[in-house]
Amino acid sequence: MNIQNALADRVTALKASAIREIFKLLGKPGIISFAGGIPSPELFPTKEWGELMKDIFDTEGSKALVYGVTEGYAPLVEIVDDINSKNGVGKDFDRTIITTGAQQGIDLLLKSMINEGDGVICEDPSFIGTLNSIRSYRATLHGVAMDECGIRTDLVEEILKENKIKLIYTIPTFQNPTGITQTVERRKKLLELAEKYDCYILEDNPYGDLRFKGEVVPTIKSMDTNGRVIYVGSFSKTLSPGLRVGFITGHQAIIDRVIVCKQVNDVHTPLINQMLVERYIKNYDFDAHIQKGCDLYGHKCALMLECMDKYFPENVTYTRPEGGIFLWCTVPEGIDTQPIFKECIDNGVAFVPGSTCMVDIEAPSNCFRLNYSTMPDDKIEQGIKIIGEVLAKYV
Ligand SMILES: Cc1ncc(COP(=O)(O)O)c(C=O)c1O
Repeated sequence: MNIQNALADRVTALKASAIREIFKLLGKPGIISFAGGIPSPELFPTKEWGELMKDIFDTEGSKALVYGVTEGYAPLVEIVDDINSKNGVGKDFDRTIITTGAQQGIDLLLKSMINEGDGVICEDPSFIGTLNSIRSYRATLHGVAMDECGIRTDLVEEILKENKIKLIYTIPTFQNPTGITQTVERRKKLLELAEKYDCYILEDNPYGDLRFKGEVVPTIKSMDTNGRVIYVGSFSKTLSPGLRVGFITGHQAIIDRVIVCKQVNDVHTPLINQMLVERYIKNYDFDAHIQKGCDLYGHKCALMLECMDKYFPENVTYTRPEGGIFLWCTVPEGIDTQPIFKECIDNGVAFVPGSTCMVDIEAPSNCFRLNYSTMPDDKIEQGIKIIGEVLAKYV
């Protein structure tokens, strides 16, 4: 028996998320990890979750433990609609449903829209969770380089001229992995291109609330007058990722299909988790909680950059994000960051090598991602100093 024959072609080609693989290396005691992608655990509202959980079971336990509707717990959908409308998200033709994290919203949307061989444009680098989901539906991925203004729309147009593209996937605000925010001009241009070449935009915005500097840039979805943009959001980065509560907003005709796909996926997002999020937002000061996160990440990002200015060789460049939890470093061309990563791990520091986030994951990359949200200040300085010393040997 060849057990490989048991597996579907569409998944055998997938590589396990390298970030998840890196997590296995992080078991080493005392490792300083800049590899994660979560908010600071010190901000998880654990006391509040405890109070709310007790209250839910004391008063509505049986309601929390039945099957819920696939579309989501109605009071939470209402809250999300409210939050969305503050961001200009959601027109008459749109509807919102709750998903089990943004990741599920993205995957079910792709399942609903993508036929094998369809063209999908994305930023290169991009979020590995979405890249793997796109790969699993056997779409043709077209990665587009970014600059400090976000995805290069001139290159997007070149691809649109030459190929039939169904969807453009973008993380315009505090992008994972680069931390770059797309300018309003680029956002307008992207939407204009989607109209001109008759394709759709998936706007993924899990970090948008975490701004610690600069001016708010309007979402692409807020400029959407025709149902071209499907918008995905999450409470993972503002509340707690383990709750797995996110949402998707888009044209009713598309979201209705997503609902059918969700029915055969997990039926609904656990009601208790949805009730926790809904009650947290109703009973506590969510805005103040987000502000606390912004203050902390603003401080940690500034500290990390200060240490990088001090300890990194001069020919290593990096982004200077205005929010979110990541920044992106580039070493001179021709140098692969994989061996640098291995040596840093041996020296007790982890980050995410750039190749992990690229459309072509086999090709060497001269970049790497650093996360600044989770490590204490002294570890940020210690870890960046170690990376700087290793970098000095290679660049
Ligand atoms: C850009 C991006 N989109 C989506 C997700 C998935 O978020 P969630 O935890 O809500 O599934 C992540 C998580 O890291 C992300 O970085």
